Amino acid sequence: MPASAYAAPVDDATRELFEAALTAYAAAYAPYSGFSVGAAVRDETGRVHVGCNVENASYPEGTCAEAGAIAAMALAGGRRIVEVVTVAGGELVTTCCGGCRQRLREFTADDVLVHAAGPEGVRATFAMSELLPASFRLEHPHLQG
Ligand code: THU
Repeated sequence: MPASAYAAPVDDATRELFEAALTAYAAAYAPYSGFSVGAAVRDETGRVHVGCNVENASYPEGTCAEAGAIAAMALAGGRRIVEVVTVAGGELVTTCCGGCRQRLREFTADDVLVHAAGPEGVRATFAMSELLPASFRLEHPHLQG
């Protein structure tokens, strides 16, 4: 069965996060790659923040969906991420790019779940520590006064 035909069962909170990410996915601005991505993060107070990829004629200036969601969270005062859903199209499971794994790492604990979804639902779920093991992070001694 292709990954896109499989939507894993999820609880109500994850379903809410998925629906938010799906709405963001529909708003993506991706005229160059044609690859839309939406992301939703839940913060420590339960609020949901979303972002979509926003591309640019100068290709490297484009931004990922996760970056947008994190920026929205920070603006709203959120400082911890407790769950993440991304939505992307295509047949495969799309996981966060390396840069976004580091961006998410800043605000998440090791056991935070990052769900990779397609428009039909969640396809795969990873712990943050699986996506970015042995990461450079705030707790590094060099960053502690
Ligand atoms: N993209 C994201 O928004 N998030 C990811 O983690 C993977 C890649 C976007 C960036 C670009 O606009 C498009 O997908 C194709 O790489």
